[in-house]
Amino acid sequence: MVRIFDTTLRDGEQTPGVSLTPEDKIVIARQLDKLGVNIIEAGFPISSRGEFQSVKRIADEGLHAQVCGLSRIVKGDVQACLDAGVDMVHVFVSTSDIQIAHTIKKSRPEIVRASVEAIEQVKDAGLACLFSAMDATRTSPEFLKEIFGAVEEANCDIINIPDTVGVAAPSIFYRLVREICQNVHRMTVDVHCHNDFGLAVANSIAAVEAGAREVQVTVNGLGERAGNANLAETVMSLQSIFGAKTSIKTEYLVETARLVERLTRAQIPITAPIVGENAFSHESGIHSHGVLERSDTFEPGIMTPEMVGHKRRIVIGKHTGRHAVRQALESVGYTTTDEQLQDILTRIKELGDKGKQISDADLQTIADVVLGDVAREKQAMILKEVSVMTGNIITPTATVRAIIHGQDRVLAKTGVGPVDAAVRAVSEILGEEATIKVSDFRIEAISGGSDALAQVVIGVEDISGRRVQARSAREDIVMASVEALVSAINRLMLLKANGG
Ligand code: KIV
Ligand code: ZN
Repeated sequence: MVRIFDTTLRDGEQTPGVSLTPEDKIVIARQLDKLGVNIIEAGFPISSRGEFQSVKRIADEGLHAQVCGLSRIVKGDVQACLDAGVDMVHVFVSTSDIQIAHTIKKSRPEIVRASVEAIEQVKDAGLACLFSAMDATRTSPEFLKEIFGAVEEANCDIINIPDTVGVAAPSIFYRLVREICQNVHRMTVDVHCHNDFGLAVANSIAAVEAGAREVQVTVNGLGERAGNANLAETVMSLQSIFGAKTSIKTEYLVETARLVERLTRAQIPITAPIVGENAFSHESGIHSHGVLERSDTFEPGIMTPEMVGHKRRIVIGKHTGRHAVRQALESVGYTTTDEQLQDILTRIKELGDKGKQISDADLQTIADVVLGDVAREKQAMILKEVSVMTGNIITPTATVRAIIHGQDRVLAKTGVGPVDAAVRAVSEILGEEATIKVSDFRIEAISGGSDALAQVVIGVEDISGRRVQARSAREDIVMASVEALVSAINRLMLLKANGG
């Protein structure tokens, strides 16, 4: 069993440009607990009053995971962790000559002594202790052995070998970790790999092969500079490729990645392994056809979208064949004749040849044009009226009238601006029919002048994680937003009705 130590809330929050509120941190901690991580590093309590309070709130949550706080080899730091009520204290100190000389300016014997004292303070309080030799991969192997030996004698539970600046290569890291594991008698060996050369996951796996039994990871690979080992990638490689066991409920990996993406505003690249938009997407005719016949023709097979909470997608583009276009349309509730399908296919290829990408929203817009009223008859929501009031002395308010499944409804909502008010009114007029949230809102193209054409793209998501997109272009930005939203809602309802 390999234990998963998550440091999204500590190293992950050190990602340049990322800052989380105490509420965001609680939400993430609960999600990490649901995901099944063994340890949550909640923060660095001594660093600020707010940080102390956040760590304390997470420690008080009664999670299954152990909650850990970070501490330098300083009494006050350890005490702050104890006061915050954590289960484990992560004591760290620089051990490489370069960091010792230019940052902490202590002698090696002073470092060993202060480390042992910090560990004793933690153990005297009856808590678990993790010790990190920061910059271990640039530390002299003799000093590393000496300090790990001293902390083992002080009763430390876990030692961490951090590749702080991400300079290790898997074969070299394997040898280092194996040597340390051979010298350790009782402590668990843990690793913390940074991704400066894109090797953080590979190094973490090499460490497990060498005998490490705990890995430090972050959701979406967040962390200092190029980040830390990515949780989803590390766990899935360990489980699916190396046959190792972890406590992670992998079906929540995508949900967790998207939650952290939303709260940190650090976007997951579309090509990200496992959780990226394209991780199980196929466009080319050969791949799509193969995957529709049998998914492991062009997917790993040892990892399926269901295992990680993702969905397989056949992406429509100029490389796509008839078979895949028909399937894509059927999956969102459109049935076509052969001629209609040919017409749609021709339009897709024309757009593709002009270098345009065809999103789900585009495909459905093309289908709406080709199929006309046939598709429109199935609409769950028909917009009747929209009016907005705005100005510098009134709160922007929007009133929307719509027919929902044949029933006339009216709703007024306020917002921070007219678009926000209108979007809220349309989203909430559905009432109990569906709970949706706007997951994406973009104004994509605006021609010049005060009568400019605004193109709005809206993505919506329901509570089951179904996501669709729609677009609309108008001179009136409120109307463009409302129309795009209504069309996205109709697509979502159609998808739901078709069991998508
Ligand atoms: O990168 C690092 O070395 C760290 C330590 C605190 C473990 O984040
Ligand atoms: Zn780090």
